[in-house]
Amino acid sequence: MSLSEDELKMGGGVAVITGAGGGIGSGLARRASELGMTVIIADISIENAEKVASGIRKTGGKAEAIAVDVSRPEELDHLAEHVFGNYGGVRLLVNNAGIETLGFCWEISAARWESTLNINIHGVVHGVRAFAPRMLAMKEECWIANLSSAGAFGIMPTQSAYIMTKHAVQSFSEGLFLDMKLIGAPIHVCSVIPGLMRTGIFDTVSDPPSTDVDSSQLRSYQQAMSEMARDYGMDIKQGSEIIMKKIAAGEFWISTHPETTAKIITSRIEFLKKQNDPSIIPGSKHLLDY
Ligand SMILES: NC(=O)c1ccc[n+]([C@@H]2O[C@H](COP(=O)([O-])OP(=O)(O)OC[C@H]3O[C@@H](n4cnc5c(N)ncnc54)[C@H](O)[C@@H]3O)[C@@H](O)[C@H]2O)c1
Repeated sequence: MSLSEDELKMGGGVAVITGAGGGIGSGLARRASELGMTVIIADISIENAEKVASGIRKTGGKAEAIAVDVSRPEELDHLAEHVFGNYGGVRLLVNNAGIETLGFCWEISAARWESTLNINIHGVVHGVRAFAPRMLAMKEECWIANLSSAGAFGIMPTQSAYIMTKHAVQSFSEGLFLDMKLIGAPIHVCSVIPGLMRTGIFDTVSDPPSTDVDSSQLRSYQQAMSEMARDYGMDIKQGSEIIMKKIAAGEFWISTHPETTAKIITSRIEFLKKQNDPSIIPGSKHLLDY
């Protein structure tokens, strides 16, 4: 894929991507390197982060792997201190790290609730809190992209824990966009809305199954979702090219599957207008189907 004029502007800058040791984050890291960026691969797994970083370095790119748990605000502060101290600035921050969680609302363990909310919501909030003031002080054009989901516009039984975090990230990004606009900041805020991607996000979706839920049903649902992502998910390289191009263009809405996203949004609007009972995201499968 050739580079757009917008993408050429990213070259020479530093990209910080959380959860870049695998999945979408690793694809975005490789794409950022192709655009000529130095890439900071921040992941809870230093081994996976190092694999992605060394892959980038082997192709002549610049990358550093750093162990970061985004559920710990102080680790995001240290990351920001480290990057600004050693590289002088950040052109692109992608708050990407996230986990899936499946199960009935009342059966998910307290620990799993906490990690889901802390990683998926607070990881994004504190990524912005740690980086935005330093990015603002640069007084240069730069970008913050937060990973929402097509699921942010619908509701699904047995996926409430995950989906509510994506509703939260979507509204946080909308608010952040407005805050930046209000002060005339040269920071583009982007909401990345992937549809189904070919990643391992469904491979680990819960703690050991709790006692009430039928664990074999949960396992077969998890397996089916993992297979669906592998068989029908969008290729990471393709998805990352689409995402980076739209980020560079400064778009707020960045959807990998715009038609699916539009369908979900249309049915959400109908639901809100009519104040019907909640309905399942059109075309989706859930635990009770298995
Ligand atoms: N895969 C999809 O179909 C899809 C769809 C919509 C949205 N998303 C969102 O995209 C983002 C990436 O998802 P993915 O599919 O690439 O997931 P993935 O599971 O393939 O990769 C997630 C990465 O995040 C890292 N990570 C997990 N917890 C972390 C923590 N506490 N701190 C730092 N890193 C951590 C993991 O080690 C892994 O490298 C998530 O926010 C997800 O919700 C994914």
